[in-house]
Amino acid sequence: MTVEHPYIIANWKMQLSPADVEQRLRDVRPAIEQLDHRVRTVICPSFLSLATASRLLAGSPISLGAQDVFWAERGAYTGEISPLDLRTLNVTYAIIGHSERRQHLGETDVMAGRKMIAAMGHGLQPILCVGESAAQRAAGQAETVVRHQLAEAFRSVPPPTRGQRIFVAYEPVWAIGTGEFASAEVATDVMRVLEQTLVDLYGAGLVEQQFRFLYGGSVNPDNITSYVQPERFHGALAATATLEVESFIRLVTAVTQVWR
Ligand code: PGA
Repeated sequence: MTVEHPYIIANWKMQLSPADVEQRLRDVRPAIEQLDHRVRTVICPSFLSLATASRLLAGSPISLGAQDVFWAERGAYTGEISPLDLRTLNVTYAIIGHSERRQHLGETDVMAGRKMIAAMGHGLQPILCVGESAAQRAAGQAETVVRHQLAEAFRSVPPPTRGQRIFVAYEPVWAIGTGEFASAEVATDVMRVLEQTLVDLYGAGLVEQQFRFLYGGSVNPDNITSYVQPERFHGALAATATLEVESFIRLVTAVTQVWR
């Protein structure tokens, strides 16, 4: 299968102040504009910076993503963010079920599923994160764990409508922000398990056309092309390596060179 674009999705977490986000965006936009636009770049700043980012990225090839989304449109949900409001800020992607939210905020697969449905219903492209802990990998449970996370999250999710993209990010928890990373072979094997789980749910045709697979976990300019290749992952979800403009640009440039 030929996938049209590779994707680099930058998750800026809570790492930058609004002033720093603004400066990064001013620096990164012209640099990305000079590169090959076949690589789709998406930036997910903190919620506080989405309005500014929406303004600074208007008309650019960079898309805007949110780091989370709530499942309801309106209501008494203190602190939550409506998918409706994300859309009015030109947000088109939403990360769902990141392991940091699972770990620190108790997010579950069921919650991730509800968020998936809300995101898809509002035209946001969801990026569902799954991944095993170090202990689970050591116990030989990596594939069982991610298959379970995926199946639970997608349990009630209807098939995507025509043209809608769904992203699944395989992010081994032990590789996030640690400088350790899964070998491309190991990660690709896990990705095939995820792909098969989705094929069982939605059929091979739909998965091929509308699902895209990302690797995340200590992606850097030197290792990104071992993951992101036409026959492996369709893109990367990266945090640390996207915080400095220079290494962000090196990630995009590296992928441009392997995706022909
Ligand atoms: P990292 O984080 O690139 O810093 O390892 C990845 C992520 O949390 O998505």
